[in-house]
Amino acid sequence: MTELVSPARGVHGVVSVPGDKSISHRYAMLTSIAEGTSQIYNYSSGADCHSTLACMAALGILHEFSEQDGRKILTVRGRGLHGLQPAGAMLDAGNSGSTIRMLSGILSAQSFETRITGDESLVKRPMRRIMTPLSQMGARIEATNEQFPPLHIYGSPLHAIDYELPVASAQVKSCVLLAGLYAEGETVVREPITTRDHTEIALRELGADLTLQPRLVRLRGGAPLSAKTLVVPGDLSSAAFFLVAALILPDSNLILINVGLNPTRTALLDVLRSMGANIKLLHLEETNGELIGNLQVQTSRLRGGTIEGAITAAVIDEIPALAVLGAASEEGLVVRNAGELRVKETDRIETIAQNLRHMNIAVETTADGLKIPGRQRFRAARIESCGDHRIAMAFSIAALAADDASTIHGAEAASVSFPEFYTTLRQIAK
Ligand code: S3P
Repeated sequence: MTELVSPARGVHGVVSVPGDKSISHRYAMLTSIAEGTSQIYNYSSGADCHSTLACMAALGILHEFSEQDGRKILTVRGRGLHGLQPAGAMLDAGNSGSTIRMLSGILSAQSFETRITGDESLVKRPMRRIMTPLSQMGARIEATNEQFPPLHIYGSPLHAIDYELPVASAQVKSCVLLAGLYAEGETVVREPITTRDHTEIALRELGADLTLQPRLVRLRGGAPLSAKTLVVPGDLSSAAFFLVAALILPDSNLILINVGLNPTRTALLDVLRSMGANIKLLHLEETNGELIGNLQVQTSRLRGGTIEGAITAAVIDEIPALAVLGAASEEGLVVRNAGELRVKETDRIETIAQNLRHMNIAVETTADGLKIPGRQRFRAARIESCGDHRIAMAFSIAALAADDASTIHGAEAASVSFPEFYTTLRQIAK
């Protein structure tokens, strides 16, 4: 699908974004293995989170969507830790790294075997990072060339481990914790830097036996989880595209409502504010242990800057949007320590650089980052999403700032996390 995106002077209005992708995956998996029926409000409309639901359905978990007073509710009939049933066929995680990596933790502990794969992007993404700790727990997993999907997971009894993550990864941390729910003894996960803690929060909400310290989680296996009513906050990583649009276009004033503001996710706001962004917090509340708020963002003069070290890991999903902002900023943007970008849905260092160049923006790539000089002007271009949702959306925002209309090829990729993206964009771009 090709979208035509015309230049705009600004973005205006009040908008919401889909439910958080990370939290939706966790709620779907955890309510499936909880005891009783859970209701989840604002479950992500993205294809990735529907891949998780389809996998859980194939494992015998019934779910249904309904609507109440205009709010979409997902009902999940949990069957307890040991209620999953063998899937009749290979599970399909689609484009979703979170689905395959986190679900593997649960599948490793079952009394049956499962095969799980994904689309052409997912079968190129590294799985050794979860296979290593899971094997230490007693799991048996086979993979293509010992690291790529499809995974063949032979369920087995697991034992607890004390695991220090070699790379900062919330997916790996979550995978080990999900396996730890079934393991004999106390599973300990230590992380070099803090990563998103949605799994720990959700586990606590559903009654798991868990202790939290900075960069350390302890979880005692065997304790049952209980069903609960849960609300998914809006996805800040989706809101990032509209934040950047509002900041770089000359005449913007936008309000984003019900956005997830968990402190392990808000480094983006710190980075933007440190560059001079005018972003105000209008309202803040806590639901199910997660912070949710409204943000107002207005056109700002942005300095640009350097993103490196722990900050890079904390804004890794927002780098495509930040790269667009960097080119429009005063001093440009340098991104370091972002080798992980090379193993995302695409090699994002290359797909960002290619599309910036299509738009006549100078950019230098390094093994683990990007250097984008500031004060550059976007030229209308043919953009290639390369099947990557965040590339499609980031460059649609760049297109708003261009001198003429651009075409976004493979724009349907946006639906992986944000199916309503282009409809919303057309409503707010003026
Ligand atoms: C995610 C964690 C991050 C992030 C991904 C979603 C999660 O990946 O990039 O989009 O939901 O836990 P890593 O944990 O691999 O860094």
